Amino acid sequence: MRQPLVAGNWKMNGSVASVRELLAGIKAGVAGVPRCEVAVCPPFIYIPQASAELAGSPVFWGAQNLSTEAAGAFTGEIAASMLLDFGCTYVIVGHSERRTLYGEDDDVVAAKFAVARAAGLKPILCVGETLGEREQGITEQVIARQLDAVMAMQGAAVLADGVIAYEPVWAIGTGKTATPAQAQEVHAFIRGRVASQAPEVAAGLRILYGGSMKPGNAPELMAQPDIDGGLIGGASLVASEFLGICQAAHESV
Ligand code: PGA
Repeated sequence: MRQPLVAGNWKMNGSVASVRELLAGIKAGVAGVPRCEVAVCPPFIYIPQASAELAGSPVFWGAQNLSTEAAGAFTGEIAASMLLDFGCTYVIVGHSERRTLYGEDDDVVAAKFAVARAAGLKPILCVGETLGEREQGITEQVIARQLDAVMAMQGAAVLADGVIAYEPVWAIGTGKTATPAQAQEVHAFIRGRVASQAPEVAAGLRILYGGSMKPGNAPELMAQPDIDGGLIGGASLVASEFLGICQAAHESV
């Protein structure tokens, strides 16, 4: 049985005051969703605040990115060891905004995944096709390429107890959600591709859906056999909405 995970990707949003309020709201509701693992990924600068305010709660925290380098002259970068210093469990790797706006290609994403894993962080590997790619009918090729880059670098075993987020780029922040059937089809494809190399790894792999997930559409998505939770953007900035999605995950198992 895979425990569902719901992770909030706050992106570049927040202030000291709003982070305090949001974390207080999540902490107040998390006891009601014990079957769902809950995590938040604030901007780097609010991670110390999250680690202080979440200490002793069941909520995990993580980062939205990390450097491929361990230390040194890399202005503006953050190393895995620094994330561990502040108690991070998770780190998002290869989000489509990093890929498209900051030029992270499959090799960089695979290197980040490897560095995070080696450091003892749990990377959440994001994959997903653009609208143009879906319309061309090459969704599976794109996902396969993104996934294979990680497995080729380190072998499928690197995904043991891993987390992948399927985030169709056309559904991120647009209010357009993949239908449960569309999402399930890609989730099953991802699990099958990993299974072809390592069946036991595939069985334990948690595959999250991301892209305009809200409390209203979460139950149907979570009900799909290969959807094991969500990576939540916009709705993760409002405690009641985020907890509503956690509730759906909690009730799905
Ligand atoms: P969204 O973002 O929930 O706002 O669509 C999801 C994500 O980018 O991780």
